[in-house]
Amino acid sequence: MKALIAAGGRATRLRPITWTINKHLIPLANKPMLWHVITKIVEAGIKDIYVNVNPGEQEVMREALGDGEAWGAHITYVEQRGGARGVAHVVANAEEYLRGDKFLFFLGDNIILGSLRPFVERFLREDLDCLLAFSRVKDPQRFGVPEFREDGTLKRVVEKPVQPPSDFAVTGIYFYNDRFFEAYQNIQPSARGEYEITDVNTWFIDHGRVGYEEITGWWKDTGTPEALLEGNALIKDDLPKNHYAVESEVPIEAQVQGLVKIGINTVITPDCLIRGPVVIGSNCHIEGSYIGPYTSIGDGAKIVRSEVEHSIVFPNVFIDTRRRIIDSIIGKNAQVVDVQGTHPRSGHRMVIGENSSVEL
Ligand code: G1P
Repeated sequence: MKALIAAGGRATRLRPITWTINKHLIPLANKPMLWHVITKIVEAGIKDIYVNVNPGEQEVMREALGDGEAWGAHITYVEQRGGARGVAHVVANAEEYLRGDKFLFFLGDNIILGSLRPFVERFLREDLDCLLAFSRVKDPQRFGVPEFREDGTLKRVVEKPVQPPSDFAVTGIYFYNDRFFEAYQNIQPSARGEYEITDVNTWFIDHGRVGYEEITGWWKDTGTPEALLEGNALIKDDLPKNHYAVESEVPIEAQVQGLVKIGINTVITPDCLIRGPVVIGSNCHIEGSYIGPYTSIGDGAKIVRSEVEHSIVFPNVFIDTRRRIIDSIIGKNAQVVDVQGTHPRSGHRMVIGENSSVEL
């Protein structure tokens, strides 16, 4: 089996972060989002992986993820041609690589805990044309939603319905055989002008053997800042314990509690409290600070006399403030500091990029 990962798009809801970094490379537990996706795919036994990228983004993706050697896999980067024309079009764009094979199609901003292996096994064992993964959600209006017949079989899938026929989302984890391309020939662009994956799925329900599985563990599409923070937190719970190694010398007086990873050449002063799960990169300087659960701190960050919790701090950030920072995403090279004794002493001085969001 092969896998195709969708990693293009503009991710406008994650601006300003996504002005300078592709959403799928945003670090979760200090590893690019796609690193976690590829790890899941390889764990399920799939090693021939294609990554769909925006035009011109092949190099930056290759730099971040390599050619798959780190996983004993092989990664091929496929540039999107013909513009952004919908999720189903991403698969059509990779037809030359997938024709003749069964494949997993994975939307790269979907994060799951737990294994994909049972899905792969069922798809192959039952020789299905299509296997869909559902997850129960509070807001089905935001997703593709399955409609069931009375006997529990699938009737169709509806994209972002105003009145959802069930409380399941069709997650961005799909298994297909190469009848996909026959399905694609038979769908039309939707009202928003896109080739919808939902229409492909409904075609399979009408013309093929389709199975579905419920993801009972955690699943999220990380399209919003809140979802990203939740993804960053839960991935920390999912990482194997041996991932949490302390690779720098930490003074005995410093309190390091729970699962904490600390990279090389990082300085932690004795007056720090670090309460895991926390991931701290290499070449960081943490002084007189509290780093609370579910925080990631990128390489080269400096945090002085501060408290940070449940946040994603990118590389080379500087934080020196008496205010407690929570639920925050702080982009590369940014700084958050208290007023430095200049006049006037009150008021907030800010240089904030387009689409930033600050709660004071
Ligand atoms: C896409 C699909 C939708 C699916 C969702 C899962 O939506 O069109 O059917 O439920 O991914 O993440 P999008 O996130 O592109 O709006």
